[in-house]
Amino acid sequence: MKKDLLTLRDLTKEDIVAIIKRGEEIKKGSLKSTKPLDGHNIGMVFDKSSTRTRVSFEVAIYRLGGNAIFLAPSDTQINRGEPMKDTARVLSSYLDGLIYRTYSQEQLTELAEWSSIPVINALTDLYHPCQVLSDLMTVDEKLGNLDNLMVAWIGDGNNVANSWINAANILKFNLTMACPERYLPNPDILANISSNVKLVSTPQEAATNANVIYTDVWASMGKEDESKQRIEDFNGWQVNQSLIDLADKDVMVMHCLPAHREEEITDEAMEGPRSIIFVQAENKLYLHQAILEKYLKPALVL
Ligand code: CP
Ligand code: NVA
Repeated sequence: MKKDLLTLRDLTKEDIVAIIKRGEEIKKGSLKSTKPLDGHNIGMVFDKSSTRTRVSFEVAIYRLGGNAIFLAPSDTQINRGEPMKDTARVLSSYLDGLIYRTYSQEQLTELAEWSSIPVINALTDLYHPCQVLSDLMTVDEKLGNLDNLMVAWIGDGNNVANSWINAANILKFNLTMACPERYLPNPDILANISSNVKLVSTPQEAATNANVIYTDVWASMGKEDESKQRIEDFNGWQVNQSLIDLADKDVMVMHCLPAHREEEITDEAMEGPRSIIFVQAENKLYLHQAILEKYLKPALVL
């Protein structure tokens, strides 16, 4: 039966470790990766903008021998109201897999339910699982494991934050989140956190002794009209050198990008010696290759 990657909750600890280790192996130039997607066609339906996720998935598909078919919002009938269950069944009859970036997680789930091919979440308003998998690969690559990790999430309780909570629930590393009162992570997700996930009220509390300081934009895609208000509300929540000074001396500063320099993070922090932000971005390529191998290869048995 086909498997989808809609949220990290679809994975076990063993699955996550296997995917990130495979990503690391691919980065080192593993020859085991032949062309498992040879002659296969993967649809990439993106309702929101993307630089990294789109290009890294597309290149990953080509590296595995497959064809990527990219569909922007104006290229499909979805945004003219064609029901998801119709789109899903039709696309399933042409394609071998679907990578979908959209607004609502429910719409993604509906696509997956009606598709007979694997569906991968390339970001929704609720989650960004592939991002956090490549982030975990980046940390694991540096440290060799994810044990005793202390991650500080600072800023908006958004889709990336929600996926970090899922990862911490499964892997049991310490995740301390500092988000302004009105911008906490999704309440249903917060209602089910394990004891290693904590909310604190200041960025300083979260950053103290952290191994990872992670932030993301204050206004995610779809929230642009709130940008001005959010800049006021997030005053004091910037990742900067004084926050980095509170963390472990080997702290890794992370951001999924795109960043708004001098808003949620300073230019100095992004370019400084503790930043691994551009390694993080690079690793999306290898990790996406590992995801495609896991989700698409089994579906290729004819
Ligand atoms: N981090 C990330 O998903 O970037 P894009 O929006 O450019 O894909
Ligand atoms: N939280 C951001 C992540 C972008 C990769 C957004 O959803 O816009």
